Amino acid sequence: MKTHTLLMPLDMHLHLRDAVMLETVAPLSAYSFSGAIIMPNLVPPVDTKEAVVEYKERIMAAVPNDFFEPYMTLFYKNYDKAFLADVAEEITAIKLYPAGITTNSEGGVSAFDIEEMRETLDAMAELGIPLCVHGETDGFVMDREAEFMSIYELLAQNFPKLKIIMEHITTKAAVEMLDKYENLYATITVHHLILTLDDVIGGMMMPHHFCKPIAKRPEDLDALLSVALEAHPKVMFGSDSAPHPQSAKESCGCAAGVFTAPIALQLLCEIFDQFGKLDNLQAFVSDNAQSIYGICPEFKEVTLKQRTFVVPEKYGNVVPMFAGEAIAWAIESVD
Ligand code: DOR
Ligand code: ZN
Repeated sequence: MKTHTLLMPLDMHLHLRDAVMLETVAPLSAYSFSGAIIMPNLVPPVDTKEAVVEYKERIMAAVPNDFFEPYMTLFYKNYDKAFLADVAEEITAIKLYPAGITTNSEGGVSAFDIEEMRETLDAMAELGIPLCVHGETDGFVMDREAEFMSIYELLAQNFPKLKIIMEHITTKAAVEMLDKYENLYATITVHHLILTLDDVIGGMMMPHHFCKPIAKRPEDLDALLSVALEAHPKVMFGSDSAPHPQSAKESCGCAAGVFTAPIALQLLCEIFDQFGKLDNLQAFVSDNAQSIYGICPEFKEVTLKQRTFVVPEKYGNVVPMFAGEAIAWAIESVD
């Protein structure tokens, strides 16, 4: 049976939530990842230095026995330069949400007015703070990401020194943007390397496959696979693991988010192995992120083995993707 070892896996887009949910999910990521970029869409959003510091403390308290670095983010607003200079040492990036586009994003950006954003984005470029973006408009659901490409272009052209991360890309259009601007990068989730819209609503409606951005067409999946499997140097793994209580998913008005944190590395091994690309997985789950963000995580070695792993039905009150199903790889050891 095949084994595969990954060094310092990083999850460059992770929702850990707070309180009981944080206590349930944080240890699962801390077990197999060296670190993760932590999303700030709490209620209220993480938008002050105190909120960043206190949230990081709560995360660390939830993972007492594991080495795990929470790379903190701030919720994007138009901040002044003095504030950003003060908060810079506590954060790794700033996350921008278009207002109202997804879970807890009401306080996000309602109009992309470059002049209004200029002080903040110039200061971020100067301070070396990357901008992570949820790139969707409020258009027709299948077109939202493609429609956002013109905003990425505007940002990339106006702020050439700012590192812009297109988060959880789902389309061929976004893949094609990568090589167009030097300062554009992307994260890709594991579920978007598996699902198309058919797996969400093509048969029975699957609440645990429903997320934003929604999974797209087969040709989009192919485009995502092509850059992930080759570990294109501008793409990184970011799970966008987004836990919601079972009652919020399996209900009328299903919350958006796929919970993958505890099965992400296993699924990635399965996918990369299927395509004969296991040797490229290290770059996709760690090395590219280290170069793009200039981070240096502490040592962690995760060995996976090709053997059946039945995904638990639940972690606390959260149902993971593929609950109860067998996947082909399992974590064998973590050192
Ligand atoms: O599906 C999603 N869930 N997409 C997001 O952008 C946010 C996330 C969440 O926080 O639940
Ligand atoms: Zn997210």
